[in-house]
Amino acid sequence: GFTPRVFSGIQPSGGLTLGNYLGALKRFADSQNSGVESIYCMVDMHAITVWQEPEKLKRATRELCAGFIASGVDPEKSVLFNQSQVPEHAQLAWIFNCVARMGWMKRMTQWKDKAGKNAEQASLGLFAYPALMAADILLYHATHVPVGEDQKQHVELTRDIAAKFNHDYGVEFFPITEPVIEGAATRVMSLRDGSKKMSKSDPSDMSRINMTDDADTIAAKIRKARTDPEPLPSEAAGLSDRAEARNLVNIYAALSEQSVDAVMAEVGGKPFSEFKPMLAELAVAKLSPVSSEMARLMEEPAEIDAILNRGSERAREIAAPILAKTYEIVGM
Ligand code: ADP
Ligand code: NA
Repeated sequence: GFTPRVFSGIQPSGGLTLGNYLGALKRFADSQNSGVESIYCMVDMHAITVWQEPEKLKRATRELCAGFIASGVDPEKSVLFNQSQVPEHAQLAWIFNCVARMGWMKRMTQWKDKAGKNAEQASLGLFAYPALMAADILLYHATHVPVGEDQKQHVELTRDIAAKFNHDYGVEFFPITEPVIEGAATRVMSLRDGSKKMSKSDPSDMSRINMTDDADTIAAKIRKARTDPEPLPSEAAGLSDRAEARNLVNIYAALSEQSVDAVMAEVGGKPFSEFKPMLAELAVAKLSPVSSEMARLMEEPAEIDAILNRGSERAREIAAPILAKTYEIVGM
């Protein structure tokens, strides 16, 4: 058996969204007293699979670290570090590039979505991204990976890579990691299109709530969020074929830490003209302390860098012996 250990990562590829907060950061903070060692990574090597301006990447990495801390992740309790500062990630990723099969990679829906029709012009790194993600996770023998729904297929690929490595080399060296996808907000959707996930890479800023948006901006985005004209149904079951309404209720549930049923008992039957202001008030109340703490931390970049440097040292203490053992198994 493997000792339980949590790993998760976020790309410093632009501002953080409410999707990142509810699907990832808030859950990391909520689970940090579980007694399980948790390792969280700013995955800058993933970010550069699509073009990033160097100065923006540097700033986004610090801002992401500030986002973790402002969301309540304590760098004394959890390891917070930057991927490129731990070269073992790239080293293990190469081995996994040689374990993963082309056919597996071609089936990844995120590759198909991100490369789109112009796959010939996509970077080789974008194609190989899930093998690097497998290395991120397995370099720490992580047993659990808390992520949003969009990352489920990548964690399944991680399991396939671990199983093939173990089988090919006749060892039980890498754990078969479990994705942990829980809560009301495993897939926060765009405010403009209920069929697309909320993402920092969506060209429309109205589609998402950024963690750094001010109160007026948050309220305006929720007021203008697309919905159908009917009032909310009386019960959760009535949300099943109403993607936009369901999304707003899910966000309300996650922010207020209630079940969807409990929320519907409170707001069922209300028109959006009443529900949207309630949601806006809640979102502002929950996000504004986080965004002001992020802004405060961003005034101390040297402090953020020191936290990441310390985190990278702690990460390497775990990663280096696992990589050394992997090389030995492979015969290198
Ligand atoms: P993005 O998709 O915004 O670029 P990342 O790929 O860096 O973000 O994902 C970071 C974490 O945030 C992952 O755990 C991912 O599953 C989660 N996440 C991203 N978008 C959403 C969303 N819309 N709803 C729920 N979780 C999300
Ligand atoms: Na993502």
